[in-house]
Amino acid sequence: MSGDAPRIDVLIEGDEIARRVDALAAAIAADEPGDFLVVVVLKGSFVFAADLIRALERAGASPHVDFITLASYGAGTASSGTVRVAHDLSEEVAGRPVLLVDDILESGRTLVFARDALLARGAARVRSCVLLDKPDRRAVEIEADYVGFRIGNDFVVGYGLDLAHRYRGLSYIGTVSRKR
Ligand code: IMP
Ligand code: MG
Repeated sequence: MSGDAPRIDVLIEGDEIARRVDALAAAIAADEPGDFLVVVVLKGSFVFAADLIRALERAGASPHVDFITLASYGAGTASSGTVRVAHDLSEEVAGRPVLLVDDILESGRTLVFARDALLARGAARVRSCVLLDKPDRRAVEIEADYVGFRIGNDFVVGYGLDLAHRYRGLSYIGTVSRKR
């Protein structure tokens, strides 16, 4: 919009993401032989989830899919720490094995909030799959069961991830830095 667009450098190319998503789906399909419910954490994971659920079908798994929109207060590049449900699931989770799908695991607050909410509603089991993990940024103790890529502390955009709701449509993941 202004002349000060940030500079975006490619971190992970689209074809590398595609290969990794196939591998994640194969691992999940092998671990989940029965029916399960995929809970997609919006908004950031919608692109990843769209590719992952198609890869799951190719790998022989055919989960139910539902969506929950979670938000941390604030719209900058640092999450504020308070997570809330902006739009809830429509499926019942009681008694069902659930796979949570999120874009990126950073402080861990979003994933802890989602996992605990599902367990409180009686989910039989909650596993989690994240495309990206920034392990050095963890503020609460949690690890994902399936991780696409471990990355450093740079802010990243693309493949669903945004900077103030832009750049979600990039087919690669890139790091953002201010032009000077
Ligand atoms: P956490 O609750 O701190 O683990 O943060 C997870 C959420 O923060 C993700 O679902 C993203 O929406 C957002 N987030 C964290 N790091 C980044 C980033 O580098 N780029 C874009 N969004 C991010
Ligand atoms: Mg998110």
